[in-house]
Amino acid sequence: MKIIIIVAVAENNVIGKDGKIPWHSSAELKHFKNTTMGNPIIMGRKTFESIGKVLPGRLNIVLSHTPGKLRKSDGMVAVHNLDEALNICREQNAEKVFIIGGASVYKEALAFADEIILTRMNLKPEGDTFFPEIDSGQWSLKEKEEKEEFTIEVYERRKK
Ligand SMILES: NC(=O)c1ccc[n+]([C@@H]2O[C@H](COP(=O)([O-])OP(=O)(O)OC[C@H]3O[C@@H](n4cnc5c(N)ncnc54)[C@H](OP(=O)(O)O)[C@@H]3O)[C@@H](O)[C@H]2O)c1
Repeated sequence: MKIIIIVAVAENNVIGKDGKIPWHSSAELKHFKNTTMGNPIIMGRKTFESIGKVLPGRLNIVLSHTPGKLRKSDGMVAVHNLDEALNICREQNAEKVFIIGGASVYKEALAFADEIILTRMNLKPEGDTFFPEIDSGQWSLKEKEEKEEFTIEVYERRKK
C-alpha cells in the first residue's frame, strides 16, 4: 500500500491560518479531488472540522485522542492514531492512501510516507501553520508540472 502525503503549500511554506487554508483556488481543489477520489484519506481532527463535512467518494479517517467524541457520519471513521488508520486501509486492500493534513499529521507521516504530492501555490499569505522544508537527502523530485496558479511537485522517498 502506497502512503502518499498530499498538501498545498504557499511560497513561504504556509498551509493554514486560524484553522483554515488562507486561499481559495478552484483549480487546486479540483486537483485534490481528482487525485484522492476513490481512495481512503487520513486527516487530523482539526482539518476534519475545518472542512466541515465528509468528503464523498473516499473513506474519511479522522485522528483524535478522543475519537468517541466525534459525531459519527456515513463515510467517516474516527480512530486513536495513525497506525489504527493505516490498518483500516490495509484491511480494505487499499492500493493507495492519502494523508491530507494538517501540520501535526504531516509531520508524523513524513517519517514513513512513500510519496509527497505538493502543490506550490504562487502566493505568500500570512499564516500560523507551516509544512516542513523537504529534506533533499530523503526525498527526490520525480515530477514537476507548472499550471497557471501553482506548480505540482511530486517527491519520492530516496531508497537507502
Ligand atoms: N494547505 C493544505 O494542504 C492543508 C491541508 C490540511 C490542513 N491544512 C491546515 O492545517 C491546519 C490544521 O493543522 P493542525 O496541525 O493544527 O491540526 P490537524 O493536524 O488537522 O489536527 C490536529 C488534531 O488531530 C488529532 N491528531 C493528530 N495526530 C494524532 C495522532 N497521532 N493520534 C491521535 N490524534 C491525532 C488531535 O485531535 P484531538 O485534539 O481531538 O485529540 C489533534 O489535536 C488548518 O489551518 C488547516 O486549514 C492545510
